[in-house]
Amino acid sequence: MPTLLHLDSSPAGDHSVSRALTAEFVKNWQAANPGGTVVTRDLTKTPLKPVTGLWIGAAYTPEDKRTAEQKAELALSDTLVEELLSADEYVFGVPMYNFGVPGSFKLWIDSIARVGVTFAYVDGAPKGLLTGKKATFLIATGGEYGPGSPAVSYNFVEPYLRTAFGFLGVVDTSFQTAGGAAALNYGADRAAFLEPQFEAIRAKFAQ
Ligand SMILES: Cc1cc2nc3c(=O)[nH]c(=O)nc-3n(C[C@H](O)[C@H](O)[C@H](O)COP(=O)(O)O)c2cc1C
Repeated sequence: MPTLLHLDSSPAGDHSVSRALTAEFVKNWQAANPGGTVVTRDLTKTPLKPVTGLWIGAAYTPEDKRTAEQKAELALSDTLVEELLSADEYVFGVPMYNFGVPGSFKLWIDSIARVGVTFAYVDGAPKGLLTGKKATFLIATGGEYGPGSPAVSYNFVEPYLRTAFGFLGVVDTSFQTAGGAAALNYGADRAAFLEPQFEAIRAKFAQ
């Protein structure tokens, strides 16, 4: 039975657009995969912290040679990496913050990019070890950054995610961006805004 890792990073709770999109994705995924397992990771409830010198030293020390202190420093990273390794498929809810991903999402990436575990250097070249995984990124942005928009070069979310996950071996990716979410702050109807996004998600499962 397949496993889906469902990761959210928006702190906006019920107001979040990206959380509404991932919830719709999970509902459809469960209908398409009866008996499948969904593992949920909420970055607003995960005690992520910036990488430390101790963390780097631990990550580059072979597992059987790590001290108790090094093992403790890597414990959360080990859990997060295991969630990625044991899932077949991923869905990520990602708000745009200041043209990039939220800090919590960046800290999570810093935590799961682990030499010898999620990537390796083979003959001097990097090789992603998260192979055979399928990832869907559901992004919410206040403004519009679509093709042809004057602000297209301001969008560092999708290019960054493509590069970071591609480096780790996740190349079967799908990106959907709910652009213009700022209109919701100025009276736009939430259900009407979300419906075409939900429709696009349902269409992924109809293929
Ligand atoms: C701290 C912060 C920074 C933001 N930065 C941007 C930005 O750079 N560009 C943009 O288009 N929208 C920006 N927004 C708007 C969010 O992308 C938008 O509200 C989106 O819906 C957030 O995702 P969520 O609804 O899942 O929380 C920002 C919002 C916040 C709270």
